[in-house]
Amino acid sequence: MKYQRVRGMQDLLPEDQPYWAHVEKACHDLAGRYGFERLEAPVLESTDLFVRGVGDATDIVSKEMYSFVDKGEDALTLRPEFTAGVMRAYIENGMGSRPQPQKLYSFGPIFRRERPAKGRYRQFYQFNAEVIGTPDALADLEIMQIAHGLYSRLGFTNLVFQLNSTGDPECKPRFIQALRDYFTPLMDRLAPLDRERLAKNPLRVLDTKERETLPLLADAPRFVDYLNAACAEHFAELRAYLDDAGIRYEINHRLVRGLDYYTKTVFELWGEGLGAQGALCGGGRYDGLIEALGGAPTPGVGFATGIERIIMSMRELGVQPAPLPRPDVFIAHLGPAAKRVAVQLAAQLRAEGTGVRVAFGARSLKAQMKDADRAGCALALLIGDDEVRDGTVTARDLAHSEQATLARADAAGWIRAHLP
Ligand code: HAM
Repeated sequence: MKYQRVRGMQDLLPEDQPYWAHVEKACHDLAGRYGFERLEAPVLESTDLFVRGVGDATDIVSKEMYSFVDKGEDALTLRPEFTAGVMRAYIENGMGSRPQPQKLYSFGPIFRRERPAKGRYRQFYQFNAEVIGTPDALADLEIMQIAHGLYSRLGFTNLVFQLNSTGDPECKPRFIQALRDYFTPLMDRLAPLDRERLAKNPLRVLDTKERETLPLLADAPRFVDYLNAACAEHFAELRAYLDDAGIRYEINHRLVRGLDYYTKTVFELWGEGLGAQGALCGGGRYDGLIEALGGAPTPGVGFATGIERIIMSMRELGVQPAPLPRPDVFIAHLGPAAKRVAVQLAAQLRAEGTGVRVAFGARSLKAQMKDADRAGCALALLIGDDEVRDGTVTARDLAHSEQATLARADAAGWIRAHLP
């Protein structure tokens, strides 16, 4: 084949759509129930927004962005996540002067040039939710509840959050120093990639997958032991809310997440049927992000989930979405005059809200009825020379093999009475 889809990208075919409609509806419903309003920022943003927002030492920014210079010499990037763009929109649209916090959600495509694997794509969709403008740990809880609620509603069980706190600008540097002090004497035993990480982004040594490094992590410093009073209190408050809500979680001292903006809370939800891909969703608090992007100091917390991973797991767990609505009525015709009547009748029925298919071409009644059957239509209207002359249609209930000839004006009523 001359043209193929770009590696790591997918065609979402008609048979995939019931899954997508099912998950998207669950996202919109839940967002509404928690009082989130939709905000859709553009897919393209300035490259610099992500360099500053997500962090230039992260894998996302240093290796995975689809960045280019356009014909007007602007450096642009296909968004590799929602959060930075949502914060840009919050600042640019003066949303800080609206009632706080602002609870905003987005649903759309995200682009990362990662190595494609099961559940890992280069274009994928995220449902993303942010609570902007409050430091309250209740906002962290609500974000975790909406994530948990989404998976529960979709039929996932055994949901357990991985949870950690990554401190604030006061205690984070102390922890990073402790990590350096711990790993530096062990440098010779670290995997080469982790030696590099220790220099550039030491926190990432903690969530390494490198075999040589793993045994060294057992005695590594733990963030919880370095939190200052304010961060420790915030973390304790969130854990108390989670306990009260009956949401299961484990403190994971190795969880740091791959984006630089996090402060305090970080979490992931791991699911079944995902193999090595692990996380169904992830998020956390980012109290310094808006200020770093040029806004007033404003705290925030949020999460995002990949839709493909949800659908993959649904398929593996055998969860069946409801079929999408499709036309119930098929109009068959015999002869050119009948075809013109069929086209008019179809337009009239569609205008009234009925889904209709009209036969293409000029084929035998038998062939047309076969098409009606294949399309899953329950009812057929047949028009031949007699019906054209008399202003009638022959209406057939395909499931019950019933047939009646009626005035064309009565077709809509007959359909309503016979719809399954
Ligand atoms: P993230 O952990 O980079 O967080 O991505 C969130 C979710 O997107 C992942 O848990 C996964 O479900 C999905 N995902 C990530 N990469 C891929 C991929 N290559 N293919 C398929 N699915 C993928 C963020 O993006 C943060 N912006 C979340 C956030 C919002 N934090 C605060 N607010």
